Amino acid sequence: MNSTQIILKSSTRDLILVTGGAGFIGSNFVLSWLKNTGDSVLNLDLLTYAGNPANLAELEGDACYTFVRGDICDPELVASLHREHRPWAVVHFAAESHVDRSIVSPEAFVRTNVLGTFTLLEQARLYWMGLNGAERERFRFLHVSTDEVYGTLGAGDPAFCETTPYAPNSPYAASKAGSDHLARAYFHTYKMPVLTTNCSNNYGPFQFPEKLIPLMILNALEGKPLPVYGDGKNVRDWLFVEDHCAAIRRVLEAGKPGECYNIGGNSERANIDVVTAICDLVDELRPVGAPRRRLITFVEDRPGHDRRYAIDAAKIARELGWKPAEKFESGLRKTVRWYLEHPEWVENVRTGAYREWIAQNYAERREVHGLGTRD
Ligand code: NAD
Ligand code: TYD
Repeated sequence: MNSTQIILKSSTRDLILVTGGAGFIGSNFVLSWLKNTGDSVLNLDLLTYAGNPANLAELEGDACYTFVRGDICDPELVASLHREHRPWAVVHFAAESHVDRSIVSPEAFVRTNVLGTFTLLEQARLYWMGLNGAERERFRFLHVSTDEVYGTLGAGDPAFCETTPYAPNSPYAASKAGSDHLARAYFHTYKMPVLTTNCSNNYGPFQFPEKLIPLMILNALEGKPLPVYGDGKNVRDWLFVEDHCAAIRRVLEAGKPGECYNIGGNSERANIDVVTAICDLVDELRPVGAPRRRLITFVEDRPGHDRRYAIDAAKIARELGWKPAEKFESGLRKTVRWYLEHPEWVENVRTGAYREWIAQNYAERREVHGLGTRD
């Protein structure tokens, strides 16, 4: 085991093992879990470019929180964490998560998302098989996945439901689909109590500014071009991250092992509408002379860019009573405010690695036209 273990404190309460808890959704989940339950959290995170311990700074000294820096692909480490901390649940967020990076460098996606998920499933299975009675009954493995495994929709197609056939189009989506199939197989073959959630695009505090919403907020604030891919009419369904965290808590609490649950925000928006809404919010909260919409620049499209994602979240509403609480407009306003109010966090995540990525992804991308030149 060549990981760094930073044991902040330990307690004897019930504990869950979270992977990727220093990333965007994972850190929101850890904070909300500790606020909403009496359990402790063991967070296993490799701290790649996307992992940021500052997201969890408020937990320093908290007896209910333990952080371990390490790799989900390391079977000895994963086995020892199960053995020593005896989680009643594993909530698996750790992944390479950015589609554009998966197009440039797909290998890391296969390693972490496929091999890493396999390693975690296998070590969790060995641990679970050694449990007895009530402990064995109670154990859950929740695999966090994405709507991108279902492929792309046309404008009039019905939204993705849990029985929509898988048709992943990017290396990211394909690697997540592979991990979903492994999760499914572990239930089917070993009867291990695995649950899978497939969620739409999240947004909110702590999102790394390589993704659409934080990238546009920060570029708008700094008067930089706002690079919209293609014609800007690709559609995503957006979910405020706290709603995703609440859905995961609910699935852990009441979900049926072996089942998949689609999670969505009922908020389909074209990218260009998201970007103009951000421009208007930044204008309102940090006014400058000229409207930020002037910064919108249409650039060469992402290869294989999925046209539309939409989620049918009727199953989780019907069976578990979960619905999103946040409307897109209010969630976006909260998100813009959060980035404006946390300049230090922003400064810290924009390391050399971040700047290199921006140069690599956008420098070669040909500008097609600015908003002002569109008819
Ligand atoms: P993120 O990229 O912000 O965070 C990923 C975290 O995983 C980071 O903290 C990183 O350090 C950690 N990690 C990466 N490789 C690791 C490894 N080998 N071992 C241990 N830790 C490792 O991702 P996110 O946006 O928070 O997404 C979390 C999960 O939710 C992912 O599985 C993703 O596929 C899924 N998801 C994300 C979205 C979204 O909109 N962001 C939507 C649906 C599903
Ligand atoms: P992204 O946040 O990367 O999420 P995903 O690809 O997983 O949906 O992108 C959201 C949408 O925004 C997607 O259609 C691609 C588009 N996009 C841009 O137009 N410009 C950008 O600079 C980025 C990062 C994304």
